[in-house]
Amino acid sequence: MRFFDQYDRFYQTTATLLKPNRFQQRWRMIVAQNRQLFEGARVLDLASHDGRWAFAALKAGAAYVEGVEGRAELVQSSFDNFNAYGIDPASFSFVCKDLVRYLSAENLESFDIVLNLGFFYHTLRHMEIIENMARTNAKYFVFDTGLIDAEEALILVRREAVADPRNAIDHRGAGADSVPIGIVSRAALTLMLDSVGYDCNEVDWRSLVTDFSECEEYAAGGRGTFVARRRDPNSNAPAP
Ligand SMILES: C[S@@+](CC[C@H](N)C(=O)[O-])C[C@H]1O[C@@H](n2cnc3c(N)ncnc32)[C@H](O)[C@@H]1O
Repeated sequence: MRFFDQYDRFYQTTATLLKPNRFQQRWRMIVAQNRQLFEGARVLDLASHDGRWAFAALKAGAAYVEGVEGRAELVQSSFDNFNAYGIDPASFSFVCKDLVRYLSAENLESFDIVLNLGFFYHTLRHMEIIENMARTNAKYFVFDTGLIDAEEALILVRREAVADPRNAIDHRGAGADSVPIGIVSRAALTLMLDSVGYDCNEVDWRSLVTDFSECEEYAAGGRGTFVARRRDPNSNAPAP
């Protein structure tokens, strides 16, 4: 049985396209493959949508999850989903805020894992986000993101419409129809993470997934999942 088949409210509350196999394979690559990281962890879920990955993290053994989501109706769905499944209110919190603003708070709390899933190609503030993710002192970051397929460390800049609830929010509140966003290459993501002391490893979808239906982007290399681990703070050695 697929993980979210047991919690099928998430099939209704998603504002992304409903693709159950893609959802399942992402759960395998993001959560099941990394289950040992979640045990007892405090988890920050950036762009938490309807609470799906925060929920999956708790079910994988996390002690506490905090979600940050810019759209109020999705934050409401997150609370509704967690309450409907009887989750202890002391074990979660959801904040409705621009995550860049949330991360820049002086009193940013510590977490063990920061999830950055389905978001890093809906922003042009990549480095600021990564620097502030590092301020949480998390040992691990998990990224799942759209990518440009380039050897070099590049960011491709585009605009995207804010009316689509899967997309960037109008974070300046300027009444903009669209905002600039950037899509990074693997090398750019690795370089940015390295600069704040994290080694980045890609989860190998090709060796772990057999059914790529609804997952064509992952199969073609236009999207990937990455686990970044904080280097020993006593060693300043860059990744080889
Ligand atoms: C494509 S969805 C990804 C949802 C989920 N994390 C996943 O991977 O399945 C992108 C999410 O980012 C949220 N979002 C976009 N810009 C944001 C911002 N600046 N601050 C907080 N949330 C934002 C959107 O509202 C949407 O829920």
